[in-house]
Amino acid sequence: MKVFAYGIRDDEVPALKSWQEENPTVEVDYTNEVLTADTVALAKGANSVVTLQLDPYGADVLEGLADLGIKNLSLRNVGTETIDFEAAKRLGFNLSNVPVYSPNAIAEHAMIQLSRLLRRTKPMDAKVAKHDLRWAPTIGREVRMQTVGVIGTGNIGRKAINILKGFGAKVIAYDKFPNKELQEEGLYVDTLDELFAQADAISLHVPGVPENVHLVNEESLAKMKDGVVIVNTSRGNLIDTDAAIAALDSGKISDLALDVYEGEVGIFEHDWSHEKLPDEKLADLIARDNVLITPHVAFYTTKAIHEMVYQSMSAALAFANGQTPDNALEY
Ligand code: COI
Repeated sequence: MKVFAYGIRDDEVPALKSWQEENPTVEVDYTNEVLTADTVALAKGANSVVTLQLDPYGADVLEGLADLGIKNLSLRNVGTETIDFEAAKRLGFNLSNVPVYSPNAIAEHAMIQLSRLLRRTKPMDAKVAKHDLRWAPTIGREVRMQTVGVIGTGNIGRKAINILKGFGAKVIAYDKFPNKELQEEGLYVDTLDELFAQADAISLHVPGVPENVHLVNEESLAKMKDGVVIVNTSRGNLIDTDAAIAALDSGKISDLALDVYEGEVGIFEHDWSHEKLPDEKLADLIARDNVLITPHVAFYTTKAIHEMVYQSMSAALAFANGQTPDNALEY
């Protein structure tokens, strides 16, 4: 039995090795390259393939795997919107993801960024670095004084809500598929428009599926409070970047934290410190005092990495053995 893993980073190797030690009958091989039509041949001879990448799993990639007789694909992450499900179905793929590797990792990052924005740590840190140790004008706001709107109450959104409750914030939430417990607590508003109208700060926790693309756009921003704070740790395509930049310019958005960005593929996970960042909008956002950019790292904790590797490898093995793992995708 052989599992081939793509896009393996150095920080994943220890988990991969320890999984292999616990499963000595399985042959494990890996590359740091991501899975594309050009790299598909590396998986030759494998029964299952494991991947983590932002690059799409298009028909060409899936056909390439199928030509090698490989029809088991296990993602190490949660998001599945980059899979060409039509092609996967036509080719008869078994697919799995890791839906719950560490919702806390992402929720914590979102709430840390929200508090950093409110306490204006970016301009304060910049002042301190220059030995300017005065207080004013870098005055903060308290999380507990905010009405925070959480859009999306899946595993991550619910963890974010728990953290917000700890801060003492007033939480309102919206989800097309409400959670029973939160419903009983009366946290939900009925429409997104209600949430937009009431929230001082908004944290996005919905997937980047077509119906959510540009959820934050010129029209929805107009419905939000002046000076709204927005945090996006979900998917870059949820926010229309041009609309967000215009809203930052006008003051409609007072502060913005993005861990994900519309144009991030090919830009994030690369060192641009010695060359020009080839995305002027991103460079503009990074330069602003009231914008926090992180390169899709909300998930990036030791706990999450361990779970991503272990759960995906175990799913890949289950598929190879003709079994259906718990995290198999129904599609
Ligand atoms: C996900 O799990 O979907 C993430 O956003 C993490 C990233 C490494 C792709």
